[in-house]
Amino acid sequence: MKKVNNIAVLTSGGDAPGMNAAVRAVVRTGIYHQMNVYGVMYGYRGMVKNEILPMESKSVANIIQRGGTILKTARCMEFYEPEGRQKAYENLKKHNIDGLIVIGGDGSFKGAQKFSQEYDIPCIGLPGTIDKDIAGTDFTIGFDTAVNTAIDAIDKIRDTADAHDRLFIIEVMGRDAGYIALHSGIATGAEHIMMPEHKAEVEDIIADLQANERRKKLVNLIVVAEGHETGANEVAKMIKHRLPNADTRVCILGHIQRGGTPTCQDRILASRMGYAAVNALIEGTYNVMVGIVNNKIHYTPLDHAVKAKEEMDTDWVKMCKILAS
Ligand code: F6P
Repeated sequence: MKKVNNIAVLTSGGDAPGMNAAVRAVVRTGIYHQMNVYGVMYGYRGMVKNEILPMESKSVANIIQRGGTILKTARCMEFYEPEGRQKAYENLKKHNIDGLIVIGGDGSFKGAQKFSQEYDIPCIGLPGTIDKDIAGTDFTIGFDTAVNTAIDAIDKIRDTADAHDRLFIIEVMGRDAGYIALHSGIATGAEHIMMPEHKAEVEDIIADLQANERRKKLVNLIVVAEGHETGANEVAKMIKHRLPNADTRVCILGHIQRGGTPTCQDRILASRMGYAAVNALIEGTYNVMVGIVNNKIHYTPLDHAVKAKEEMDTDWVKMCKILAS
């Protein structure tokens, strides 16, 4: 087994709270093992353009509590072409880099997987995305913070909804996955959750709202995942048409879900994963994603992590409806 001496770390795709804590863990674990550690700016774009900087222990001081990413992030189309990856490889070689740690979502892992098949630089992926849409891990870095941000916002919306006897339709992020909707919906006692994995029929929801109206339950919250086939505005239009007396409002939470100080859970998750990523390179466990399964570090081959999708337990939706009735 070849010893890895010089490692690089980057953040790629949409930022997620806790990415900084992961970078800090990688840098300090690498330095502890006498490695040279480099930070790549702007994800794969920095690899292609040679924006690669040496990092010291103090480069990552005072960042564990900060949202965003000090390494910046980008989505880089050039890296998806063989010429782009070749430039990236040559730039890594200029710094003698022999191990790469990629913190990002499944798009970023697809890039890492291709790169590791073509070149002799082992890659380790850390799941950093608010969407929690990656197989091989129970949680992703940033998910807990994003859900807590959504919960905080939805609780506030409930206050005003309650004051006015209003119906609110709240759209949350998650790309094609409904985890933010599911978790924030349950935690705020939403009356309905709409998400791609469990297609709620708007007609069924309308029937339920009509029944609520008859029993004078006028405050209702519907949490819609952005990936649901009927968007929040469309749902509102359909409801207004069938329930003309309902005082209906739409709120799209948007990018506030990506920012903010990471929760304790995300800081610890990111720290454990960053530490485990460097250890994987030392032990010769290459081209894997570091996950957390049943609270234990778990390695999944990168190609599996990019292909598989976690099964969602949709019984949670039934539970949510029962508890909110
Ligand atoms: O993947 C994270 C995410 O915030 C998704 O939930 C959302 O669909 C997307 O990124 C938004 O991307 P952008 O910031 O490029 O608009």
